[in-house]
Amino acid sequence: MRGMTKPGQIVNVMKEERCFPPPAEFAAKARVGSLAEYEALWNEANHDLEGFWGKAAHELHWFKPYTKVLEWNEPFAQWFVDGQTNVSYNCLDAHLSSPRRNKPALIWVGEPGDVRIYTYQMLHREVCKFANVLKGQGIEKGDVVALYMPMVPELAIAMLACARIGAIHSVVFGGFAAEAIAERNRNAGAKLMITADGGWRRGRQIALKANVDAALAKSPTVQKCIVCRRTGSQVAMQPGRDLWWDELMEQAPADCPAVPLDSETPLFILYTSGSTGKPKGILHTTAGYNLFAKKTMEWVFDIRDEDAYWCTADIGWITGHTYVVYGPLTAGATSFMYEGAPDWPHRGRWWEMVEKHRITILYTAPTAIRACIQWGDQWVDKYDLSSLRLLGSVGEGINPEAWMWYHRKIGRERCPIVDTWWQTETGGIMMTPLPGAIATKPGSCTKPLPGIVPQVVGKDHQPVSAGAGGWLTIARPWPGMLRGIWGDDARYKLQYWSQVPHKYLCGDNARCDEDGYYWIMGRIDDVLNVAGHRLSTIEIESALVSHPAVAEAAAVGRPHEVKGESVAVFVTLSSGFEPTEALRQELKGHVRKEIGALAVPDDIHFTVALPKTRSGKIMRRLLRDIAAGRETAGDTSTLEDHSVLARLRAEEE
Ligand code: PRX
Repeated sequence: MRGMTKPGQIVNVMKEERCFPPPAEFAAKARVGSLAEYEALWNEANHDLEGFWGKAAHELHWFKPYTKVLEWNEPFAQWFVDGQTNVSYNCLDAHLSSPRRNKPALIWVGEPGDVRIYTYQMLHREVCKFANVLKGQGIEKGDVVALYMPMVPELAIAMLACARIGAIHSVVFGGFAAEAIAERNRNAGAKLMITADGGWRRGRQIALKANVDAALAKSPTVQKCIVCRRTGSQVAMQPGRDLWWDELMEQAPADCPAVPLDSETPLFILYTSGSTGKPKGILHTTAGYNLFAKKTMEWVFDIRDEDAYWCTADIGWITGHTYVVYGPLTAGATSFMYEGAPDWPHRGRWWEMVEKHRITILYTAPTAIRACIQWGDQWVDKYDLSSLRLLGSVGEGINPEAWMWYHRKIGRERCPIVDTWWQTETGGIMMTPLPGAIATKPGSCTKPLPGIVPQVVGKDHQPVSAGAGGWLTIARPWPGMLRGIWGDDARYKLQYWSQVPHKYLCGDNARCDEDGYYWIMGRIDDVLNVAGHRLSTIEIESALVSHPAVAEAAAVGRPHEVKGESVAVFVTLSSGFEPTEALRQELKGHVRKEIGALAVPDDIHFTVALPKTRSGKIMRRLLRDIAAGRETAGDTSTLEDHSVLARLRAEEE
């Protein structure tokens, strides 16, 4: 949990004694309606993992049945061996023979206020047509298609079209800059790119196509670029390479059967930050991911046909992949999607939409909740939120006080809150209170879902006792698990499967209390969590060092009221450069250009030297204390030159 690494907050959380049982009315109707039912499910899965998932998998459509549930060749898993299915079929075609065909699959609201509704039938038609467009551009099974788009329905359509024909999508969040797009394209070997002329953000147009043009100059494998019209702004179209989405769609036939695909066919790559500079392409495959998305959607959100479900995450992140697109659609739900920012044109925008669209389930991030708290209750109080029945949180730990505000102000003390712990790598939710079954404690993600076996281990790799902190591991494979890092099996093994034998190491610290409730305590590695997004310190440092003025840089996180953590950097300058305010602004602009706005440091500290160990490693731990304005805690005996620390403190004064 963010900030729990601060001694004061550990104490605070340990004193957390509030506990909220599931509301009786909710539990009475829920799929999993009591603690006993949850425990029975969890025990059933633990007793016979393969039997449990094998039974669940009957809920997917199989072109060819599987013969074996799990082939576990540590650390490589194959789920539903020999079977053939198709994620796009499970999301769309599977609902066409039921009355669901005419219910909204997507309700989309654009930032300027435009609304589009796609029923399952309509979405199916669009996806089939776009799959034919892709085929027309030479895209085949196994080809990688890169997507860099605003939050528009076409993004979901393009993903589902890729899945339909066995192409692998690589979505790059629209906030990334050209260099980051290009790096991902090169790593993935992307063949085609899909983008838009622009996107709306707080009334401004985001020039997506211009970023793509710069990226494609450095993406040699990309041959074609399809451009979707969103803002209508003027963009440069390169003849022979760039094509308009709408013109291609006009010509495309509407018939495109879903291709039967082997269970382990790659579905998508999604890049995330690791503790080294190179972003990791997390690989998810077809059947296991699809099943995990569906089951977690049903268990955690207790999703029903009559729900209007809104996950506020951008599709560019894993939460958007699993809980805006694949989970809700496989479950036959109505997924609400919004293009813009929560505070535009006013700070009540989200609540206005909850009222207007009668949203029943809201799944968002602590950073958004904290921002709303800061903006003031008047923005919430204006609207009728009585349609809500369930709230969710994801991306980082939710501070108990933010949890209480969410509970009181948004949930009006009626709605359970599911604090969901998971990662890009896990594909779907791993730990969370099932809303009809598990009592919540603010700040705890509570218990594992059926089939998930977490273990907190100490430095000796042995499970620690209740209440003690340690590394969070997962002891058994699960269907939604990552299948690897794209093109880098060695890194996959090293990162996740080598430090603790026979267990998946997730990179978070956690503790499990006497009641079997898990409390996430933040990252083990040098990964920051800014507004629920993972950023590696080294990526930001590398971007800074690529500027001629910068000799050396160290990035650390510092506690931030709204973002959870903000980026602070310490920079030493090359000779001939002076620490000026102009340079500070220039460096911020440089990071924005190299990585994107999300990585721009809030604070840039110029210093004459960085604190290092005798072996030359930057001691970020000490810099974290300085950035946060704290006394230096902990051991400084490995520090090579103690005067550096004194100087840094003096520079701060
Ligand atoms: O540190 C944990 C934190 O976010 C990390 C995963 O980030 P990412 O792969 O970008 O996926 C975010 C959305 C699933 C985790 O290793 N994290 C995520 N959810 C929680 C959390 N920390 C505490 N509580 C959570 N509910």
